[in-house]
Amino acid sequence: MKVIIAEDYDELSKIAAQLIKEELDVKPALNLGLATGGTPLGTYKELIRLNKEGEIDFSQVKTFNLDEYVGLDSKHPSSYSYYMESILFRHINIKEENTHIPKGNTKNLEEECKAYDSYIERAGGIDLQILGIGSNGHIAFNEPADQQSLGTTIVNLTPSTIKDNSRFFERIEEVPTSAISMGIGSILKARKLLLLISGKSKREITKRLLELDYVTGQLPASFLLLHQDLTLIVDRDALGEN
Ligand code: F6R
Repeated sequence: MKVIIAEDYDELSKIAAQLIKEELDVKPALNLGLATGGTPLGTYKELIRLNKEGEIDFSQVKTFNLDEYVGLDSKHPSSYSYYMESILFRHINIKEENTHIPKGNTKNLEEECKAYDSYIERAGGIDLQILGIGSNGHIAFNEPADQQSLGTTIVNLTPSTIKDNSRFFERIEEVPTSAISMGIGSILKARKLLLLISGKSKREITKRLLELDYVTGQLPASFLLLHQDLTLIVDRDALGEN
């Protein structure tokens, strides 16, 4: 694992966007894996700036999101579809048909899981996957558990994730209790992984992750340590140095 220490969130976001730009420069038809949540917001802002200034082009890019809540329509303001559209897609020159987010409101969720994995595979796999980490160590919505899924799967969210994510809903009762998520196996298939960790609320999990010398389903992020091309960008708040 390559570790890059950023002074603060702003620097972390700029470094992440720069790394994405470098990949785009080499491969304009990049298959880019995207995350939602608070952490990548600054990176997306920076990507929008670079796109508006003509430094990067998304016209050939395909995106694949990690996860979506079960039961939320894509128009629901707390859905990840809505997040991606309002935070990133509508501000850059990406083609709508090139953006992919698992459907959380379809009748046959099992089918959707299989279809999502095979769609990624047929597209040639993910070149670069952006990741955040939950305060409980989850990656995408793969929650701590003895078994971790190889492929896209339906997961029950833990009380700690429901609490963490309630900030994106009006009331905690509105947070869905399950989600469709790329599996740990699907994530490890990406050619490059970029894990972003920022903020004091991530101190404990950052420390646990950096001190690990084994992998365990109880800390899903530990599986990322098996990947040959993992870059971690962490800011000083998360490292506990501020
Ligand atoms: C979101 C996702 C989650 C988040 C994680 C951290 O698509 O897959 O694993 O990356 O919950 O969320 P934030 O960035 O809000 O702390």
